Amino acid sequence: MKEKKFEINRILKETRKDYVQHVLLEQDCCNDPFDQFELWFKEAVEKDSMYANAMTVSTVDENGMPDSRIVLLRNLSYGGFTFYTNYESSKGNQIKNNSKASILFFWKELERQVRMQGEIRFLPIGESELYFRSRPFESKVGAWASQQSSRIENRAALDERYEETLLKYKDKKVPRPNHWGGYVLVPVSFEFWQGRASRLHDRIKYSLQENNKTEHWKMVRLMP
Ligand SMILES: Cc1cc2nc3c(=O)[nH]c(=O)nc-3n(C[C@H](O)[C@H](O)[C@H](O)COP(=O)(O)O)c2cc1C
Repeated sequence: MKEKKFEINRILKETRKDYVQHVLLEQDCCNDPFDQFELWFKEAVEKDSMYANAMTVSTVDENGMPDSRIVLLRNLSYGGFTFYTNYESSKGNQIKNNSKASILFFWKELERQVRMQGEIRFLPIGESELYFRSRPFESKVGAWASQQSSRIENRAALDERYEETLLKYKDKKVPRPNHWGGYVLVPVSFEFWQGRASRLHDRIKYSLQENNKTEHWKMVRLMP
């Protein structure tokens, strides 16, 4: 087959950026990667990083094929990073089959990324209940109206489902659907990446180590 010519290749060729804003040295890193994450997250919020809590969650399907999507970080609790979704979505089914996953944050304003690997667990139902109650009425209705990741004929059919569900719950309390709730990714590794000049970026990796039944984080520097 003849190779297709893409116009954007010219733009891609010209796109080159040096990273010069910050440094990440071992002596400045917190011993606990969760503290380091908090520090960087606060800076991302202060810098007005667009969607600072948007994170790419990667899971694998039953064929071992990786799959990624953005969800919003809603809490740091139960030993990890919490997000809310539909348990029967593609990601929900993938997690059921293989709970190992990764998370990636990219804060471009700070030239930073944070990645982590770990296991995804269900958030206790009580937490999901509490969070669901705090959502706006329309979002609650949306959780009932959308069978996330399932096929639908067209946009009109989706709007119709939503309108019907709106009517059903008009002036009523919307309960949490059983298929909707939280997950928490409990990390076993973190990597903090700080862009530096000449592609000599800083990379500090934390791995969870177990020693005589006590856990601690080991920190190493990786080459860029
Ligand atoms: C900025 C942004 C925030 C999002 N937040 C969520 C979220 O918190 N929960 C969620 O289920 N989907 C969220 N989505 C939609 C997901 O990326 C995805 O389309 C959806 O969860 C279905 O994924 P799946 O088919 O892999 O299960 C968000 C998308 C974007 C771009």
